Amino acid sequence: MKPQVKKIILAPMEGVADELMRHLLTSLNNYDFCITEFVRIVDALLPKHVFQRICPELDNGCKTKSGTPLRMQLLGQEPEWMAENAVRAIEMGSHGIDINFGCPAKAVNKSKGGAVLLNEPEKIYQILSSIRSAVGTDDILSAKIRLGFTDASKLDEIVSAVESANANQLTIHARTKQDGYRPPAYWHFIAEIKAKYDIEIFANGEIWNKEDAYSCMSQSQTPNLMLGRGALAMPNLANVIKLDEAPMPWHELSSLLKQYSDLELQGDKSYYFSSRLKQWLRYLKLQYPQANTLFNAIKVLKNKDEILYQIDLVENT
Ligand SMILES: Cc1cc2nc3c(=O)[nH]c(=O)nc-3n(C[C@H](O)[C@H](O)[C@H](O)COP(=O)(O)O)c2cc1C
Repeated sequence: MKPQVKKIILAPMEGVADELMRHLLTSLNNYDFCITEFVRIVDALLPKHVFQRICPELDNGCKTKSGTPLRMQLLGQEPEWMAENAVRAIEMGSHGIDINFGCPAKAVNKSKGGAVLLNEPEKIYQILSSIRSAVGTDDILSAKIRLGFTDASKLDEIVSAVESANANQLTIHARTKQDGYRPPAYWHFIAEIKAKYDIEIFANGEIWNKEDAYSCMSQSQTPNLMLGRGALAMPNLANVIKLDEAPMPWHELSSLLKQYSDLELQGDKSYYFSSRLKQWLRYLKLQYPQANTLFNAIKVLKNKDEILYQIDLVENT
């Protein structure tokens, strides 16, 4: 029997899943919610415009244009500053708060944020409980972790810390920091946690198609998924998993790429379209051979009309 999916979240992806991408992907799929790119917290209460820049949807009730709610993500290590900034994000309209304990970036880990905190479950507890006390119990507090820093030996302690701090949800990217983004993802670790702790869990990592989603749900024993790069590589992946839709054919994707260029025009960032399209095609290449052809045809182009011409050319060959 095929496993039944319950909720699907669009993953936070810094520099990729920004407002425009969130808009496109949530207009194509029934995502339950999205997590924003992270806001880096050091030792200050950040001005409102910083939150606004990461999450322009705050102006729209913190929902994408198609109505999918967003939750802001914070990354940092100082419990008090994390709590103050969490309160600000909630006051500005964020649907709950997500805390990033998975970021592998050297700069972030050096200053003791992100995945390095997986070595310090006690610190994870302090950060989450400080936020929980500050925001109260009405709002969702979620955490995003990896299995550990070098191995999964502290996973139990980490999840215990998250649960004891009264967080409501936990996403587990089923790899260690050391594993980086190398396949596979070790989904079975999630099942062990699921059996022990009473917290809503989302499984994440290496879900590229419906079959991966089913294997992940069955190995992790969880019906809730978070989709990252797979959601970029197959733009209707959430609905392929949830509603048994067929993967989007290239001719529809071609129209979507053109729609992306129109949206960008309103943003008035002249180079954005060409660089972001090339970035997106790197993921699309994993599912569509036409994306590879298009990438090669536009890799030195910057002009939007020339790029649009090439999109048509590839569509009609
Ligand atoms: C370009 C990129 C940026 C990311 N940025 C964030 C981020 O801001 N916050 C976070 O918690 N995870 C971030 N991640 C990790 C993803 O949310 C996700 O956990 C990871 O990609 C594994 O899922 P996947 O195999 O489905 O891609 C990022 C991943 C990528 C590829």
